[in-house]
Amino acid sequence: MSYRNNPTAVQALVRPAEVHKDLFIDEEIFALEMEHLFANTWVYVGHGSQVPNAGDFITTTIGDQPVIMVRHTDKTVRVLHNRCPHKGVMVAGDTCGNTGKFFRCPYHAWTFKTDGALLSIPLKKGYDSAVLQQCEASHGMAPVENVRDYRDFIFCRLNPEGLSFEEFFGESLSTIDNMVDRSPEGRLEVAGGVLRYLHDCNWKMLVDNQTDTCHPMVAHESSAGTAVRVWEDAPEGTPKPMAVEQFAPFISPYEFFEGMGIRVWENGHGHTGVHNSIHAAYSSVPGYMEAMVAAYGEERAHQILADTRHNTIYFPNIMVKGPIQTLRLFKPLAANRTLVESWTFRLVGAPDLLLERTLMYNRLINAPTSVVGHDDHEVYQRSQRGLHSRGRDWVNVARLYEPTEPERKNEAVNGTSEWQMRNQYQAWARFTTASMKEHA
Ligand code: FES
Ligand SMILES: [Fe+2]
Repeated sequence: MSYRNNPTAVQALVRPAEVHKDLFIDEEIFALEMEHLFANTWVYVGHGSQVPNAGDFITTTIGDQPVIMVRHTDKTVRVLHNRCPHKGVMVAGDTCGNTGKFFRCPYHAWTFKTDGALLSIPLKKGYDSAVLQQCEASHGMAPVENVRDYRDFIFCRLNPEGLSFEEFFGESLSTIDNMVDRSPEGRLEVAGGVLRYLHDCNWKMLVDNQTDTCHPMVAHESSAGTAVRVWEDAPEGTPKPMAVEQFAPFISPYEFFEGMGIRVWENGHGHTGVHNSIHAAYSSVPGYMEAMVAAYGEERAHQILADTRHNTIYFPNIMVKGPIQTLRLFKPLAANRTLVESWTFRLVGAPDLLLERTLMYNRLINAPTSVVGHDDHEVYQRSQRGLHSRGRDWVNVARLYEPTEPERKNEAVNGTSEWQMRNQYQAWARFTTASMKEHA
């Protein structure tokens, strides 16, 4: 059976409390995700601080689409399809840089302004201008029209039609707000580089895992559990290392994660850590509260820092950790291959120790060399292989399912609920089929 032009068949892959294995292993489904899901949703592109000056750019992908995010001469951030209108070459080849006032294609040196407009062609007189004017190429590099800069987080929607940015994200933007508000100056900067980690699994396994609160005490027993046991043998009075402080909550008992809470929002977004989180008990950083109180006043400063959000999923493919200032981007490469990028931020105006804590967390948990990351990668790889088994066809997400869920968004529930996973898969079915045509 083909899923192409068959939205009914695609929707049938998502049931209230289980999803079909084809979501993870089927090549045609992957192609449909690239064509529809990643075009119909607002997808994260990058952070404004990566391109502070006019001409600064990064290259990245939206689904399978190569794009350039660039600071235009008018200081706004633009997103261009990374494709020369002449013969199709990807104009920008580096992951980041400064292109000056224009991009120059490496094949025949056509040049383009940083908003994509065609600037010049060598030996221009060889083109009858009236004919070139009728060609698509005269329009230059294609800009993405729907780009939104939200507090320096840049998102875009490739399809011209669809939900507005506000409709799509709604209340979920409060997580980005809280992360930015944690800076006494209300500003974040990407800092400390990026950790890239290739995973041999479908991208949705990683998204699913971010709110899977029943796995840490099992899958991470060998890594975080060992770190804690070694620490327990340390001589009395040894100061607790930052690394142990970060590892230890991973092996908290089920009751801890139950009490943490989960909340879901419309369109596949949601977060863990409503009442408590694995980041809540870190020791305080000297000078930070004072800087926050000076910036926001006593009451507001405490309110900002009391927010214990753990992992927030911005559907389809990022996870934001406000209290530790990280963003993870799950880039789909193939049905069984995903590039995971883990980005870290400096809270502008806050003590350097906070960035140090952020970077340590990222290295400990998200780096390709992380012992915790390997635990997860191992089970993803085994899932990717196991799902080819003909023994069973469905993946289960029934934990604490309630039939009234669809009407009850924005409500905190038991933190071991798989409600957010169900929320993601429902959104997956909706946005993957939203622009599909029914077979004639
Ligand atoms: S392909 Fe870009 S200038 Fe020819
Ligand atoms: Fe994990």
